[in-house]
Amino acid sequence: MIIAFYNEKGGVGKTTLALNLAYLLKWPILTNESKATLLKKTMPENAVVHLKPNQPFPQLKKDANVIFDFGGFIDERLEKGLGMATGVIVPTRNDFGTLQGTIESIQEIKEVNSNIVVGANSISTPRSGEKVNRNFEDVSQMINKYHPDIPVVQVKYSAYIEDIHINKVSLQTLHDRGGLTKYHTTTPLKQIKKLYEVFK
Ligand SMILES: Nc1ncnc2c1ncn2[C@@H]1O[C@H](COP(=O)(O)OP(=O)(O)OP(=O)(O)O)[C@@H](O)[C@H]1O
Ligand SMILES: [Mg+2]
Repeated sequence: MIIAFYNEKGGVGKTTLALNLAYLLKWPILTNESKATLLKKTMPENAVVHLKPNQPFPQLKKDANVIFDFGGFIDERLEKGLGMATGVIVPTRNDFGTLQGTIESIQEIKEVNSNIVVGANSISTPRSGEKVNRNFEDVSQMINKYHPDIPVVQVKYSAYIEDIHINKVSLQTLHDRGGLTKYHTTTPLKQIKKLYEVFK
């Protein structure tokens, strides 16, 4: 399976979620990011394929297991990469500018790939007594207003998701350690699994 992360908007969590998924599935990451510093310092050396600016996008086999982390900039190779993917995960945040960019990005992706899931990322925990998470509901309502066919999956704000570059192990590994770590990683792990299970 080829899983691509894309959103023209920056800082939405493409690289962070790609890293978490790469550790979980034990798959390599292919990126077009100019420096790819975070990827290189987090992943084992041979697990990051760094596309140079003029390097053509590789033709991968259908049964390849790889994750694409695309920077949010214009790159002619994007069309080929997104088209080749089994599915595209579009992380977003809950602010107006980002949501607008996300809606436009989905439109762009749909031209080459209709298998899309939005990750409503860095969602804060609802205040005590609140039955629904308004923060998440706002994102899914906004996305589904323009793209009613696209599933929206919640990914909570979690230090364990963020600290992948320090821990360098999957959320599953942390979860299996038990105790408090298990408690804190249960929900993020479930949510990250849900992001790609939509494509199976
Ligand atoms: N679920 C999360 N919980 C906590 N922190 C998060 C989460 N997702 C992302 N972050 C944090 O948000 C910041 C931006 O994330 P990241 O660099 O992955 O975004 P990006 O979309 O790859 O950005 P760019 O477009 O610059 O490549 C990082 O500091 C990251 O650790
Ligand atoms: Mg990135």
